[in-house]
Amino acid sequence: MSQADETESTRRDFIYYATAGAGVVTVGAAVWPLVNQMNPSADVQALSTIFVDIGGLEPGGQVTVNYLGKPVFVRRRTAEEIEEGRAVTLDDLSIDRSSQNPNRPGTDALDANRTLDEDGEWLVMTGVCTHLGCVPLGNGAGDFNGWFCPCHGSHYDTAGRIRRGPAPENLHIPVASFVDDSTIQLG
Ligand code: FES
Repeated sequence: MSQADETESTRRDFIYYATAGAGVVTVGAAVWPLVNQMNPSADVQALSTIFVDIGGLEPGGQVTVNYLGKPVFVRRRTAEEIEEGRAVTLDDLSIDRSSQNPNRPGTDALDANRTLDEDGEWLVMTGVCTHLGCVPLGNGAGDFNGWFCPCHGSHYDTAGRIRRGPAPENLHIPVASFVDDSTIQLG
């Protein structure tokens, strides 16, 4: 990927983050006044579940939401990304063969165990590099057309699996589920 592409990728990441901050997370502002009157345990409990509106997301689109203090990438993958991810075998995964997916505990890192839906269109991952915690660049970045962490050069594929570089694990997946066709629940 060229430097220009990476700059463009960074710019898009920022735009998606800003969009998410403005309106995609439907908890936030409404919950805070209530939370401020609660004790800490209730506070944590209230924020441990958020809802992400994915209704307007086209294939290739991604939003980044703040969940429990960390960025979470919600991506609607393109047909090419799905095809690329599904073509990867466990033999291709020399660094981490775990799905790192609490929604499918104990499973391997095949693409089908990483995505939220059976068709593989929706990928939800914590956007924190498993090396030292930087936020990877997305939208087809890196040598495997997924995410790239420029801090020390970790390349993740279209399913967020570590394929090259110092990161020891695939990008982690948070507890997530569909509420309806246009809403994903985190937590
Ligand atoms: S923090 Fe991502 S490669 Fe080091």
